[in-house]
Amino acid sequence: MTSETLNLSVVPQQPCDVDFGWYEEIRHELLRRTVGQAGRVLDVGCQRGGVLLMLSEQIEEGIGIDVADEDLARAESERQARGVENVAFQHGDALNLAFPDASFDVVLLLGDVLTYIDPTKHGSVVGELYRVLKPGGRAVHESMNWSWEYRWPYPKTDIAFKRAGKERFTAHRLERDASGLETSRDYEVLPDTPLQCWILRQEWPVSPQEASTWLEVEEHTPVPEAWLKPTGESQFKHYCLDDLARLYSAGGFRHVEAFAYGQTYDLVNRAGLLEQISLFQSQLARTEAELALTLRLGSGPWLFAVSEKGT
Ligand SMILES: C[S@@+](CC[C@H](N)C(=O)[O-])C[C@H]1O[C@@H](n2cnc3c(N)ncnc32)[C@H](O)[C@@H]1O
Repeated sequence: MTSETLNLSVVPQQPCDVDFGWYEEIRHELLRRTVGQAGRVLDVGCQRGGVLLMLSEQIEEGIGIDVADEDLARAESERQARGVENVAFQHGDALNLAFPDASFDVVLLLGDVLTYIDPTKHGSVVGELYRVLKPGGRAVHESMNWSWEYRWPYPKTDIAFKRAGKERFTAHRLERDASGLETSRDYEVLPDTPLQCWILRQEWPVSPQEASTWLEVEEHTPVPEAWLKPTGESQFKHYCLDDLARLYSAGGFRHVEAFAYGQTYDLVNRAGLLEQISLFQSQLARTEAELALTLRLGSGPWLFAVSEKGT
């Protein structure tokens, strides 16, 4: 085969102009109101600890766990810098929480932590949240809303190349379905193939945010498998409102209430009014959080769910 049989085009990278600060303001308000004056709070997948540090004045004690030690070190130095005494960070795995049964009033699972975990184990994670909660305690979940931007006709496949050495590249093909299941197939691009020659000829886009390490490509005709060596496969599961609620109900939780949020930002952004309205951002964010928690209705790119462990 010759390079002419390759039918690929580079997807131009757009700068990401989403102001995540607005979403974060809504999320903080939802969390402040939902957690309230809680006793012991566990944040599973706490990353750099921002949520517990934000809640520290309204809770008795917070423990953040994560598998990423670098992030935990950042969380700890931020805790020290702010002089927060009632929050601690430690290494821990969502699949096997190193705490006795019934030891927390609130557990948090925020920011797509589940997406990083094998989809066949999501039920076990929810089981662990349930186990460490005291009777009457609450689990608070937040993750992206698969039925927002991602409903069909969202592209079913993406392929991207990544530099792994001077003339070495890896390929990642992502396939997704309407249920939110994404399968990533990973490959090495074999040397001296027309595919490697094509990649070497490309100019790699540099996004305004950071030097891009990915070459995203539209695969008009599938790349011949003979030019790729498979190296692994992984799966990620994203949630829609209903299947998120089912996940927590199946884990034994009661009063599972899930809703979407983020609509104030998306409305203002799509209407091209961000600059005019930025003065009112905090008021809008607070009002959206208040309405969402009162009505348990809403729309937008993020899901928020509150579930109770029965007494
Ligand atoms: C996108 S971050 C979310 C951070 C934070 N919860 C927030 O909402 O701002 C996902 C975090 O989950 C952590 N994580 C992934 N797998 C985990 C596991 N099995 N147990 C605990 N944390 C995990 C990652 O290290 C990462 O810090």
